[in-house]
Amino acid sequence: MSIKASAYAHPNIAFIKYWGNRNDVLRLPVNGSLSMNLHGLHTHTHVEWSNTLSHDSLTINGVEQMGRALERVIEHLDVLRERYQLQGYAAVQSENNFPIGAGVASSASSFAALTLAAAAHLDLSERELTTLARLGSGSASRSVPTGFVEWYAAETHEESFAESFAAPDHWNLTDVVAIISTTHKAVGSTEGHQSAATSDLQMARVARVSERIAICKSAILQRDFAAFAEVVELDSNLMHAVMMTSRPALFYWLPASLAVMHLVGEWRREGLNVCYTLDAGPNVHCLCTSDHASEIANRLRSLDGVLDVRTAGVGGGAYLDN
Ligand code: PMV
Repeated sequence: MSIKASAYAHPNIAFIKYWGNRNDVLRLPVNGSLSMNLHGLHTHTHVEWSNTLSHDSLTINGVEQMGRALERVIEHLDVLRERYQLQGYAAVQSENNFPIGAGVASSASSFAALTLAAAAHLDLSERELTTLARLGSGSASRSVPTGFVEWYAAETHEESFAESFAAPDHWNLTDVVAIISTTHKAVGSTEGHQSAATSDLQMARVARVSERIAICKSAILQRDFAAFAEVVELDSNLMHAVMMTSRPALFYWLPASLAVMHLVGEWRREGLNVCYTLDAGPNVHCLCTSDHASEIANRLRSLDGVLDVRTAGVGGGAYLDN
């Protein structure tokens, strides 16, 4: 017996952030979040299930993986084996078309593509696929549906799913990423989520997140850049305030990150449609409308401390390619 499938998924950038779980094992987040998929960047994953294999294996860009990367994939395959009584082991081959350290995390696209390919023969709904992807990496749930996506916080596995609320062509937003460091982050998001509750500010951040989700969603639906910029920067600052006040403290910003954040504010006052958001790293995602993207990219490239710049528009959902 051998079952093969492959799938593509894009990474995503969150506008309203996921930070902290109510259940770490099931990756049930304390709050809902909003994001858009990133066009042009993808993970392509091929999975072959076979009952002649003696163990699971993983290659990333052709390189055999050991250690934590392989363990996380095995844990995810174990979940599928257990939930759907699957037999045998899987050979997983994954390729990213963007380098690690390109300023965009690959765990969302990796676990979204892995979930689709590994569960291809099970005929699951998109909703169910988002919940399974979530078990591998929370933000992976948002890489399954198309375009602009909301992931719901809930008490149970089944209720914490993600769905699209606008198609990619709804609004021509662009993520211009200022790459400030390509070194691997010291504390990854899985550990970060676990320490979020040690900050006195986490409860305050979460208290009004539903309001920010509503404001952000309606700004996107009405293509209101000013309202969008205000809530996106506020939500990023709130998450980083929690990170910086966690025990131990997590400081992801570098001096150049802060310099870019200041400039983005000045550029907006000049009339450019641009705002910033940062994930668990120092790279600054400058979100703008596509008509201003090349101007923003040129300005970023000329700055000291900006190593590189990458641009991505709004991407579609994850899909099987066979
Ligand atoms: O899915 P994870 O565990 O890699 O967490 C993602 C956390 C942030 O990128 C910082 C925020 C988000 O919502 O994507």
